[in-house]
Amino acid sequence: MGRAFKFVVLGGGNAAGYAAHEFIKRGIGPGELCIISEEPVAPYERPALSKGYLLPEGAVRLPAFHTCVAIGHERQVRAWYQDHGIELLLNTRVTSADVKKRALTTQSGETITYKTMIVATGARVLRLEEFGVTGADASNICYLRDIRDAAFLVDAMRPGQGMKAVVIGGGYIGMECTAALVANKLDVTMVYPEPHCMARLFTPEIAQFYEDRYRKKGVKFVKGTVMAAFEKSSSGKVAAVILKDGTRLPADLVVVGVGIRANTALFEGQLAIEKGGIKVDSKFRTSVSTVYAVGDVAAFPVKLYGDIRRLEHVDHARKSARHAVSAILSGDTTKDYDYLPFFYSRVFNLSWQFYGDNVGKCVLFGDQSRGKFGAYWIDERNAVVGTFLEGGSSEDYTAMARVARVRPEAPPDLADLGLSFATKL
Ligand code: FDA
Ligand code: NAD
Repeated sequence: MGRAFKFVVLGGGNAAGYAAHEFIKRGIGPGELCIISEEPVAPYERPALSKGYLLPEGAVRLPAFHTCVAIGHERQVRAWYQDHGIELLLNTRVTSADVKKRALTTQSGETITYKTMIVATGARVLRLEEFGVTGADASNICYLRDIRDAAFLVDAMRPGQGMKAVVIGGGYIGMECTAALVANKLDVTMVYPEPHCMARLFTPEIAQFYEDRYRKKGVKFVKGTVMAAFEKSSSGKVAAVILKDGTRLPADLVVVGVGIRANTALFEGQLAIEKGGIKVDSKFRTSVSTVYAVGDVAAFPVKLYGDIRRLEHVDHARKSARHAVSAILSGDTTKDYDYLPFFYSRVFNLSWQFYGDNVGKCVLFGDQSRGKFGAYWIDERNAVVGTFLEGGSSEDYTAMARVARVRPEAPPDLADLGLSFATKL
């Protein structure tokens, strides 16, 4: 027994919501599209989980942040899918896939077949159990990837004031969750192995600015080490985090953000895999022509740099989903995807954006003490290939994006020109 659809989107996250919007915009018929998601709710804007959702006051809750509200489109609640003739299968995990037979099997044993599939399975968090950390199964260890994790973390943060939290990891989740824990009046210590936060993107000078701001809010940093074990209480909760050097950090709550892995497992051995993701071409076609892949799970050609990358950011998830749908419905008239990498974060009253590639020499400009500063990355050909700005206006950010796209030659006085180099380009 099974059902057959013309189009199937596997995964119900950010990319799936934007794919659905594009399918409807381009006029597919009722009953042609099925979206399969193991989550209990319709696709939503995942970035809200580490920002508005965790606030102590005025927190956002669904249905407020279903896709595609982040870019000013319609809010696609469950009824929207029904009204548009889309089969939205929630709480449904796909357990096996056969791309030759164009068939998926769900955990209940149902078979779903398709003519064309978009894989939008995103990524899963790395869990400390995978590193063999003793006590990693304690009940007050929180991760953050989906709405259930966010609800669990909100619950775990109560009663807030006076609670001691240890945050493991100095990346996006570590930084954004720490800000949320501070807003909820918890006493936070961050632990990470690198010499500074956001090591994949920030230089030591950029990181220093954010670490100083966090310190002013009472955050403590333990850098250059990792945790070795959790000390548990008789109730099964973590009582303390034990670091490799033997330091003991008392904890009422632990938040872990130590990276993610793309959800490729269903397709290994069936589709080409590269850079930890499903390899696609510039139209998001995988090595099997009836299967496309988008968002966090896709390793795609970045035309600007002539290489293959997998990006774990929402702007790409949205754009790649729309691009794939366009390619499926319009065929070769769809241009090649030409993406400018774009990352951003907002914490406290701070807000930064990054465009392009953080390779080569980094030139800082601006005044950190006034909260507005930036950086340019210059490659070996003396071209400005990456731009970063904290505290800019939307016009400033547009100008910084333009620089990263155009890749102009770097003048010798770039640091003095600062932002005006971008705004006058
Ligand atoms: P996404 O993870 O959104 O969706 C994958 C979906 O597939 C999920 O619904 C999952 O349950 C489902 N699925 C997987 N396997 C399945 C199976 N076998 N069967 C059924 N369903 C399956 N980015 C950014 O640029 N700025 C930001 O501020 C933030 N903030 C942020 C906060 C938090 C808390 C997180 C976790 C992430 C961010 N991100 C971000 C990253 C951004 O959210 C991410 O890049 C996109 O959600 C990726 O969209 P996808 O649709 O590819 O995966
Ligand atoms: P990340 O890759 O940003 O950071 C992982 C961090 O884990 C590293 O910086 C490192 O400090 C730390 N780490 C690794 N091994 C460790 C260990 N053994 N002990 C302690 N620390 C260790 O990943 P993340 O922060 O987990 O974020 C997960 C995903 O969510 C990413 O894809 C990210 O892009 C996405 N996200 C993005 C945003 C944003 O774009 N603003 C916000 C939140 C989440």
